[in-house]
Amino acid sequence: MTQEKRFILVIDQGTTGTRAALTSHNGSIIGYAYHEHSQVYPKPAWVEHNPMEIWEKTRLVIKEVLEFTKVDPREIAAIGVTNQRETTVIWDPRNGQPVYNAIVWQDRRTSSMIDYLKQNYLGVIQERTGLVPDAYFSGSKIWWLLDNVPGLRDRARKGEVVFGTIDTWLIWNLTRSNKDVLTPERGGAHVTDYSNASRTMIFNIHKLDWDDELLEIEGKIPRDILPLPRPSSDSRIYGYTGPEVSQLLGGVNIPVCGDAGDQQAALFGQVGFEVGEVKSTYGTGNFILMNIGDTPVRSRANLLTTVYYSIEEGKAEYALEGSIFITGAAVQWLRDGLKIIEVSDEIEPLAVSAPDTGGVYFVPAFTGLGAPYWDQHARGLIIGITRGTERKHIARAVLEAIAYLNRDVLEAMVSDTGIKIPRIKVDGGAARNNFLMQFQADITGIEVWRPVIFETTSLGAAYLAGLAIGLWKNLDEIAKNWKLDRVFKPRMDIETRERLYRGWRAAVQRALGWAKE
Ligand code: G3P
Repeated sequence: MTQEKRFILVIDQGTTGTRAALTSHNGSIIGYAYHEHSQVYPKPAWVEHNPMEIWEKTRLVIKEVLEFTKVDPREIAAIGVTNQRETTVIWDPRNGQPVYNAIVWQDRRTSSMIDYLKQNYLGVIQERTGLVPDAYFSGSKIWWLLDNVPGLRDRARKGEVVFGTIDTWLIWNLTRSNKDVLTPERGGAHVTDYSNASRTMIFNIHKLDWDDELLEIEGKIPRDILPLPRPSSDSRIYGYTGPEVSQLLGGVNIPVCGDAGDQQAALFGQVGFEVGEVKSTYGTGNFILMNIGDTPVRSRANLLTTVYYSIEEGKAEYALEGSIFITGAAVQWLRDGLKIIEVSDEIEPLAVSAPDTGGVYFVPAFTGLGAPYWDQHARGLIIGITRGTERKHIARAVLEAIAYLNRDVLEAMVSDTGIKIPRIKVDGGAARNNFLMQFQADITGIEVWRPVIFETTSLGAAYLAGLAIGLWKNLDEIAKNWKLDRVFKPRMDIETRERLYRGWRAAVQRALGWAKE
């Protein structure tokens, strides 16, 4: 009897760990396995991951999710990949060995290259890539590797090494040694999707292709090392699993056909299919994306224009993005640095035990500020402290700061698009925090909608893979899977809202430029 293929296997490779999830047609996750990997900090402001460790953990979570759920691999219709974006790997496709650790999106080692790019090529980079030049993106990381790994530039010129973001690295490994792939000459599928490519700062988001001039400007990156850019949901299939993975899958070769950056996948999993739909993910940082349709609007308010997803070759939907680097990480700092709470969950009862912050503002600019400020030199501050300030006020100020930072980005989105944001769909760990969600609604005046399922990133990747092989017929069918948990309606009067927000803007002004020499 042939098995009905009804599940999608998702690999969600994030900054702290890797998850494998099995999802079913009704948008539920029937099981998952998760493992963290090591964070490598060779110098202050440098952050690396070991790509081999990430690949080992990926195999482990695939094995475990199959064991936990007892799903027969023959019931898996397809594999979708979603990932921490921008993180950069270069490896030798003949033996699968990375030439250096992965340089993580948080890594700031290329700041001086960025100062040079900003001074000389700001306009052209913004116009073609939709990005504000920053060490965050892959371009300057590739440049650094070519300049600093002995012999690498030469090997790259000879076509002996290949580059990829983490999706590319995983898809290549998943399909390694299978000839049924889009790039058999590379020893596996050497592909990325347009959404991940749009985070590299060398990809032209209008033409949906690598940009030769940007490759030249950003350290003469040879075009031959780059992956083939493909739709996020690809009916041509990136490739079928190779022997190394198929062994874990009882000898079955499964198509890999969905790929998107994790923040884009989260908006897709939130079924943000209409123009103007917004999601905010509350993690270590916050990433806010707005669907802007099939025309890339250039931001005048310092947001990023990025590819949202593509389900057809040569076509894409776009999003505006506000990336906030530190939000949940500030709560961790209260726990591990300041030690005023023992576990992160303590923050909510502590914060609500104060009726307000007593005039205290906390600006968590630990590593500078991202959107819409983009100031590498901003630093954190706590201001407005009096003799009456207690732990609870600081805790409340940290949560309020997360909401203020979200408002900064949402205001920029409205000013760029003129769109009145209908609602904010939320996900990520801190979306559980009811106080924060209510304050978010209060300080923006916009309803906050929380879904039943928070793993929207995994769902988004599952939908993209499933669309490619016809498990879901269209977006309407997928949209029916989204289920509401709770709506937080704005309750604060406008005068209080605006007074509080003015205080926040004044505090931020004091944090900007602080660490500039
Ligand atoms: O741009 C970086 C982002 O993709 C990281 O997401 O969830 O791995 O922290 P996450």
